[in-house]
Amino acid sequence: MAFREYKVGARLFGIALGGSMMITLYMPSLDIVQVSSTEMGLRKGLMYGRVGGFSVEDPFLHGDNKPLTVVLRNDPKTGAPIDETYAYVYDAGVPFTSSIRHPRIMGKGVEDLSLDKGKIGQANQAQGAVFVVTEGRWNGEPIHYIENATATHGWTPDMVLKAVSDKDTQHVGSGKIMFVREGCWWCHTLLPEQTQDWQSFGAPPRLGDFNSESPTAFGSDRKAPDLLHVGSRNSSREWMMMHFFNPRLVQPHSIMPRYDYLWGEKDASGNVINYNQWRADYSDFASGKRIYPPEVPEPASKSDARYLIDFVLSLK
Ligand code: HEC
Repeated sequence: MAFREYKVGARLFGIALGGSMMITLYMPSLDIVQVSSTEMGLRKGLMYGRVGGFSVEDPFLHGDNKPLTVVLRNDPKTGAPIDETYAYVYDAGVPFTSSIRHPRIMGKGVEDLSLDKGKIGQANQAQGAVFVVTEGRWNGEPIHYIENATATHGWTPDMVLKAVSDKDTQHVGSGKIMFVREGCWWCHTLLPEQTQDWQSFGAPPRLGDFNSESPTAFGSDRKAPDLLHVGSRNSSREWMMMHFFNPRLVQPHSIMPRYDYLWGEKDASGNVINYNQWRADYSDFASGKRIYPPEVPEPASKSDARYLIDFVLSLK
């Protein structure tokens, strides 16, 4: 009796397993290469550079060899005013993002426009290049593509970097490395879900948002707010500075660790940061011996803290 039940069970199990294998093999499947890159996908790839994690270009995760994101309000060549434009500057030798190296991954229309009108095939990694994202039309539909502004406008990396101030320069690619290296993803996700997340954390991402991002940093187990759109709900650099130096300055019961060590030795004015003094002053504040907390130093423009804040504020 027992043996017969076993045989029935084994057959049912076989049918279920075989059936699911058939579905995997024969159902028309989604070819991920055919998914067109969204505007956000193009911008993310250009901001982050080739790889945003361990790589031969940056084995110790210092955030080296990454592109810079800059805001242009004037044509860097002629000086004429232009609409506010984000440009992605790849200095000589900085590895190009995957969509420039393998345009196919952007999807057919985006690939065609980027190659024909955007001239990305002419970009030369050894000499560096400046890219922008432009709106065009393909088969009557508006879509975005990548333009190699070095070829189309004659903007060289040197020229563009000279034309922008430090304030209009963002180290987003280096900051993504900090996010991965510091393990922010142990607590935070970059993946709002389809359900109740819409109300608190904003829209879930779309497939085409990831065409040239490697690796993604979705996170796994959420212990803290989702950060995919954090720059839209809080765009204050000052708040980010205080919160990373010591989260308890702005959220008294936060369990988030402090990341003050990302400031390094000196602040933006070149003064040595006295961490022992700062922490002693903060303890006095926390125990009520001081009325105000000590001031948070401004991070230097080439510090890990600056990179991280630039990345977090780019999450719109
Ligand atoms: C131990 C878990 C933990 C880790 C690790 C952690 N955080 Fe947090 N984070 C929190 C919690 C909890 C909050 C909510 C309370 C607060 O604001 O401090 C938070 C809040 C934030 C906020 C504000 C979110 C909002 O909705 O306004 C940002 C931005 C942030 N974290 C960034 C980071 C970054 C970047 C890292 C990595 C350098 C990091 N966090 C690491 C737990 C963590």
